[in-house]
Amino acid sequence: MCGIVGYTGPRQAYPVVVKGLKRLEYRGYDSAGVALVNGDLKVFKKKGKVADLEENNVGKDLNGHIGIGHTRWATHGEPSDRNAHPHQSQSGELAMIHNGIIENYAQIKQELLSKGYTFKSDTDTEVLLNFIDDIKKNNNCSVEEALRIALKRVVGAYCILLISKDDPETIIAARKGSPLVIGIGKGEHFLASDASPIIEYTKEVVYVNDYEIAIVRPDELILKNLGNEKQTPYITKLDMELAKIEKGGYEHFMLKEIHEQPETIHDCLRGRLQVETGEIKMGGIQNHIDALVNADRILMVACGTSWHAGLIAEYVFEELCRIPVEVEYASEFRYRNPVVKKGDVIIAISQSGETADTLVALEKAKEQGAFIFGVVNVVGSSIARISHAGAYTHAGPEIGVASTKAFTGQLAVLMMMALKIGYAKGTISKERYLHLMNELDAVPDKVKQILADTSNIERIANKYKDATDALFLGRGYNFPVALEGALKLKEISYIHAEGYPAAEMKHGPIALVDENLPVVFVATKDSYYEKIISNVQEIKARKGRVVAVASEGDNVITTMSEDVMFVPECDEVIAPLLSTIPLQLLSYYVGVAKGYNVDMPRNLAKSVTVE
Ligand code: M6R
Repeated sequence: MCGIVGYTGPRQAYPVVVKGLKRLEYRGYDSAGVALVNGDLKVFKKKGKVADLEENNVGKDLNGHIGIGHTRWATHGEPSDRNAHPHQSQSGELAMIHNGIIENYAQIKQELLSKGYTFKSDTDTEVLLNFIDDIKKNNNCSVEEALRIALKRVVGAYCILLISKDDPETIIAARKGSPLVIGIGKGEHFLASDASPIIEYTKEVVYVNDYEIAIVRPDELILKNLGNEKQTPYITKLDMELAKIEKGGYEHFMLKEIHEQPETIHDCLRGRLQVETGEIKMGGIQNHIDALVNADRILMVACGTSWHAGLIAEYVFEELCRIPVEVEYASEFRYRNPVVKKGDVIIAISQSGETADTLVALEKAKEQGAFIFGVVNVVGSSIARISHAGAYTHAGPEIGVASTKAFTGQLAVLMMMALKIGYAKGTISKERYLHLMNELDAVPDKVKQILADTSNIERIANKYKDATDALFLGRGYNFPVALEGALKLKEISYIHAEGYPAAEMKHGPIALVDENLPVVFVATKDSYYEKIISNVQEIKARKGRVVAVASEGDNVITTMSEDVMFVPECDEVIAPLLSTIPLQLLSYYVGVAKGYNVDMPRNLAKSVTVE
C-alpha cells in the first residue's frame, strides 16, 4: 500500500510526479504530497486524493527538475495534512516518502525525543527521517552513508525515496519488502511502486531488490547493497501498454476490467491450452512435473480474493489430481508454526505479487524446504521472483481495488495446472481431460455472452441496493464463489454480506433470514443442484428474498426466486469462471447506485504491502 513516485531529469518534475501518483492512487488515497528541490526544498501535501492536492497547489511555484511524491494508505496516524508524506526532517534539509512500516519506530522515537527532537506527525516515517538526519550530523557523513547505517537498525518493511535540499539532482532510494521500479530514460530516471507511472516515458526498467540502495541521478543509476558494494542493475523490458492502464471509455476501471474478461481469460489460455493436440503447455509445470505429480500435499497460500481462488482450486485439484490440498490465509500461516516438509508444494496466489503476508509466508515455507509455485499477475513482482517456478495469469494491469479479471485469470491458470498434473498422474481419464480442455476453451465466449446484456443485473442491483445485509450461499465448486460474491459486495457497496456453504446455513445464519434479507444462491446445474434447491426452499419458507445465479434454461429455480441472473451451462469444474461474473456486476452496480467510488472503496488499497 501507498504509492511512491520520483523523477530526476530535464523535465519539470511536478507534472510527472502528479500524473504518476494518479496511476498509483489505487494503492491508497488517504492523502497525497510532493516534494521538489528548486533552490530550496519545498513540500506540498494534502489530506484526500491527488486531485485535492492539485487543487490546493493552484497558483504556487511548482518548478523543479527533481521531485518525489506519495499517495498514502494510513498506517501510523490518521489521514490528515500533517501525517501526509513527504515528511521533512527537523533540520529542513531532507524530505522523504515511505511505503511500509517501521516496526521499531517507537524505540527510535524515544531516543530522538531524549535528544530534543520534536515531531510534527504521528508517523513512523518522520521518525526514520530524523534518525537518518541525526546519524548524518553525528557522523559527519553523506546522506547515503547515514541511510545505510540507519537501515541496519530498522525492523520492518520499507521502500523510501529521499531528497536533499543541497543536492538538486539525486534521489536516494532503498527497499525491503515494498516494491520499487526504476525507469531508465535518456538523461532522466523515473522511480515508482509499479511500472504504470513509468510506461509512457520508457520501457527499460530495473526492479530493485530487497536490501538494495539506489543512488539515482539524471544520467546515472548506482545500485549498492547495505554493505556498500556495487550491484549490477538488471535491465528488464516492460511488456505493458499504456492503453491497458487507462479507462478506455468506461466510467470505472472496475467495469472496464469486468468487461475485459473474455479477452484476459483468452490471453491466459492462449498458447497453453492446445485443444487440437490435447496438450497443455505450461513451462513452469513441465519443468517441475515430478515435484508436482509426486507432491505429498499442496498448500495454497493467499489473501482475500486470491484466497478464494485457492479454495476453488482445492476442489479442482483434489478431484482431478487426488492430491490433498490445504488452503491457508497467508497472514495466519506466517505466524503459526506450520508443518511444512520437503515434498510439499506451496502454490502462492497473488494478483499484485507484493502482498506482504503472502510474501513472508512463502519465505518461511521456502526456508523449510517447500517447493514454491507462484500464480501471479504482475510480471517481475516480488512473489514471482522468489518462487521456484510459476505461471503468470496474464490479466494485464488491474487498477480497480476490487479484484475481478485477476481472479478469473487465477482460476484459469489453476484449472489448467490441475488438468495437466492430473493427466500426467493418471488420475483423470483422457476423455475427461479432453472434455474439460474443451470446456475451458469455451469460457471466453460464454463470458462474452454474460456480458452482452447486463441490464437485468443492473435492475436487480437497484432493487436491493438499500439492503443492510445479504447472504451468499453456494455448494461445491460454487461455495467459494459465494464467499467471493459476499466479499465483492462488502468492499464496493459497504453492505454487510456473509458467504456460507448453503447447507451450513441451517447451523446458524438462517436465524438472520426475514422478509428483508436478500439471499443470493449460486445454484448452477451441477451435482449439488438438487441439494441446493432444497436449501432455496428452506429460505423461501422463512420469507427470505431469493436471488439466484442459475444455468440458462433452468425453469425450476425461476419459480422459487424473486430474481435470477443466468449464465451459460458448463461442466461443474469450470462453473466458477462463469458464476462469478454476475456477482462482480451485481456489486459494481450496487456500489454505483449508492454513489460510491467503486474503484477506490473506503479504507482499502490495492496492494497490501503492510501486514
Ligand atoms: O494482490 P493479492 O492478490 O495478493 O491481494 C490479495 C487481497 O488483498 C485482494 O485479493 C483483496 O482481497 C481485493 N481487494 C479483493 O477484491
